[in-house]
Amino acid sequence: MPDTENLMDTGAPTTEIGLDELWTEIRSLGLESYIKDLDTDGYTVIPPEIANPDNLCQRLLDVCLSIAETRSGVRPDLLNGKSLNTNSVVGDTLKGILLEDPVFEEALMNPALLAISTYLCGYDLVLSSLNFQAKSSSELKFKLHTDTRLPSPLPTRALLCKCIYALTDFNQDNGSTVFVPGSQRWARNPVGDEKEFGEQTGQHAIPTVAPAGSLIIFHGNTWHGAYNRKVSGLRASLHLLMQRSMLRCTEDFYDRVSEEMLERNSARFAILTQQAIIPPYIDHDDQVAKITRALKYTSTFEQESGIALSSKR
Ligand SMILES: [Fe+2]
Repeated sequence: MPDTENLMDTGAPTTEIGLDELWTEIRSLGLESYIKDLDTDGYTVIPPEIANPDNLCQRLLDVCLSIAETRSGVRPDLLNGKSLNTNSVVGDTLKGILLEDPVFEEALMNPALLAISTYLCGYDLVLSSLNFQAKSSSELKFKLHTDTRLPSPLPTRALLCKCIYALTDFNQDNGSTVFVPGSQRWARNPVGDEKEFGEQTGQHAIPTVAPAGSLIIFHGNTWHGAYNRKVSGLRASLHLLMQRSMLRCTEDFYDRVSEEMLERNSARFAILTQQAIIPPYIDHDDQVAKITRALKYTSTFEQESGIALSSKR
């Protein structure tokens, strides 16, 4: 009978968590100042010059509008349209879209997104969900909250981070995300009136001002919400929740990603799409099978990158 403890020992490279590789990547992408913003404020806005290679965001928007049209029968009208779901603070949401078009693989594998989210959550982070949101005018503000789904006090190191592509311009009147700078260091959730923000009352929360093509990334502990949209038309955005692999994922990509998708991406794509996660097992044989499957992807990544993911280092 195979020993599951020995199965985990891959004899992989011994680099602790790939910090040297990560800083090389951060410097090569020119992301140092955005890392500094993140450390200070708990969020950063990466401009289109870095975040939007080959007009990625316009291509994401075109595909998302087509998927929405296929699913609902109505193509969202960015200039004059209304959300179908007017009772939601985020408007209409398209879920389960990663497998529908290779452009979403590009959104996930975007070097700037990976470098910043790896800085926050480590090389073993995974994609928990990827969805499109189209939000129209309403009176509904999204109150302040954290995305770390735990009671206070929260762990100070990020368990997760949210990455938002602005597919249309973000500003206060358009209903942009707001942040309370530095709140990630408080390591707790807002309570009561602390959840309010605005001109007259509540927290000092700053609305994101970012042109279409920008990428907003924030620490899971950062207090954030969103202004209600005050102008006609729709705010369009793509949201990727990235998290440490030990957390339960929102969307299920395990064993659902095709060989074709895996082959056209680097080995990290398999790690990011949950292939190296070890799901709950039924018995010893099932455990061995699931660990063996996970190690296939872990070993391929470790050999390709020289970065060790294994728990035994
Ligand atoms: Fe949130």
